[in-house]
Amino acid sequence: MPFENTQFIGWMTHIQQRMETTLAGLLPSTSSAPQRLHEAMRYTVLEGGKRVRPLLVFAAGELVGAQPDNLAKIAAAVEMIHAYSLVHDDLPCMDDDVLRRGKPTCHVKFDEATALLVGDALQTRAFELLSTPLPGVDAVSQLDMVHQLAYASGHAGMAGGQAIDLASVGQTLSLPELEVMHLLKTGALIRASVLLGASAGRSLSVEEREQLDHFAKRIGLAFQVVDDVLDVDADTATLGKTAGKDVANNKPTYVSLMGLNEAKQFARELREDAFAALTGFGEAADRLKALADYIVARSF
Ligand code: IPE
Ligand code: IPE
Ligand code: MG
Ligand code: MG
Ligand code: MG
Repeated sequence: MPFENTQFIGWMTHIQQRMETTLAGLLPSTSSAPQRLHEAMRYTVLEGGKRVRPLLVFAAGELVGAQPDNLAKIAAAVEMIHAYSLVHDDLPCMDDDVLRRGKPTCHVKFDEATALLVGDALQTRAFELLSTPLPGVDAVSQLDMVHQLAYASGHAGMAGGQAIDLASVGQTLSLPELEVMHLLKTGALIRASVLLGASAGRSLSVEEREQLDHFAKRIGLAFQVVDDVLDVDADTATLGKTAGKDVANNKPTYVSLMGLNEAKQFARELREDAFAALTGFGEAADRLKALADYIVARSF
């Protein structure tokens, strides 16, 4: 079923446009040296991508009345980490992909060394941004944000998950092992997006924070389950990346372990579980719920 929530689509388009402007302003200019690196950074981050992590930052930030200008900077930091992870994920030594966001991958358009450096430079730019004082956010809370993004990106998060992914090529993982891999390589940054947005406004109670965290973890896992589904269920033109790569690369996925229909069903169950965690927030969580719907119903 196509995703048809027009009110949500309007909001999503607005945030996506805002992020394009914010990111364009925060990335180094192509008129300053080293120009080729700057060009490759802008090529990688701008004009493409669904901006799901920024959308999560904004939706969670709304829940706590955070300032939109602060959310845009936090969201830009997370999106830069995500874009860096994609550049490295596509390298020949990892997934060896030539198409990303409908364009040649960074190492194809430029070269491998530049792609490595784009990753390095985007990662450090993200932390440079997130450690610049945000108006109205106290220093201890902001230090906690830096900590959260670092934790989610490193060995206990995205990078660790990517290591498990590479070590799992050609293997049959158990469902719990696959869940750990997905929670780390993709779930950690999705979870951090929600928690960072929620850290930028009024304080949540311990209980509220736990509920939001449960939502974030379930939707983070659902995101990668759907990515696995789309790899076999969508075409290259729609995806903007080469379809069928998981089978071609011999990757264990939810589809290879469960089958296509069961993986789709599992994504829906994760969404239900994620929704249930938000009950206590009432209507204030409607945006997050719509976003969870989008994550599960998306076609690319
Ligand atoms: C793709 O992420 C890689 C995963 C972590 C599954 P997205 O599907 O969010 O990619 P873009 O940012 O929209 O291109
Ligand atoms: C990517 O997972 C996870 C990252 C940390 C980038 P995939 O390898 O499945 O992502 P795609 O399918 O290439 O976007
Ligand atoms: Mg990969
Ligand atoms: Mg990949
Ligand atoms: Mg994939």
